[in-house]
Amino acid sequence: MKIDVLTLFPEMFTPVTEASMLGRAREKGILDIGLHNIRDYTQDKHNRTDDYPFGGGGGMVQMADPIFRTLEDIGAQGKRLLYMSPRGRIIDQPMLEELAEEEEVVILCGHYEGVDQRVLDYWQAEEVSIGDYILTGGELAAMVLIDAVARLIPGVLGNKDSALDESIYSGLLEHPQYTQPRNYRDMEVPEVLTSGNHRRIDLWRFEQSLQLTAQRRPDLLLEYAKQREKLGKEERRLLDSTLQAYDLYRII
Ligand SMILES: C[S@@+](CC[C@H](N)C(=O)[O-])C[C@H]1O[C@@H](n2cnc3c(N)ncnc32)[C@H](O)[C@@H]1O
Repeated sequence: MKIDVLTLFPEMFTPVTEASMLGRAREKGILDIGLHNIRDYTQDKHNRTDDYPFGGGGGMVQMADPIFRTLEDIGAQGKRLLYMSPRGRIIDQPMLEELAEEEEVVILCGHYEGVDQRVLDYWQAEEVSIGDYILTGGELAAMVLIDAVARLIPGVLGNKDSALDESIYSGLLEHPQYTQPRNYRDMEVPEVLTSGNHRRIDLWRFEQSLQLTAQRRPDLLLEYAKQREKLGKEERRLLDSTLQAYDLYRII
């Protein structure tokens, strides 16, 4: 997958895109991230990228021209352009799965009060948000998006199953995890996890996931309960008892 990023601060990306999983995906050639500094495309001698908003008001607005020139130079015509913006649709797992299917995506990071609307209109940008709060710039949001999409691209994660088990992806929040030592400061790992009985372990984890989801995200559990008929007998029994215990049964 090729991701081109337009930003005023390309240096913010390198510690993230060169480290860990993203770094390895790039080394393997599965992910190609192109960083393009919008300032390099200014035409005035002060390299200005922003100006005062028409109509007044505080803050500055990123001018259309340097962004147009960057997009034209990288050949963004016809490609999907995402503009990181608190006005956008909030990223969720289905949206990321759909994005991970794309071969090429262009991401525009805003700053100040955002970009001139004509950029968004002309280039038919999709506005994408990472949540209902305001960041100073789109870079951190773009990195969240890139990281979350990248791990869905085949070959990026070492173990193909690991994305499927995660919270949200499976429809439930993930069960608690433990590792060595078995006893840490008198806190024991739950006995079932060291029993070697894989069926018991699976059911215990499933029940833990159900309970966590019921406590923290009942909305997700209610959605998950729609596939009740597809579950095995034991799993269905655990789901029903969790729904009852958390008084959610009456809602479905
Ligand atoms: C200070 S914000 C501008 C906010 C804009 N004036 C508004 O009210 O919609 C500067 C830039 O940060 C980015 N940004 C801020 N919050 C964001 C969020 N929740 N999700 C994605 N990008 C965000 C956008 O690229 C935005 O152009």
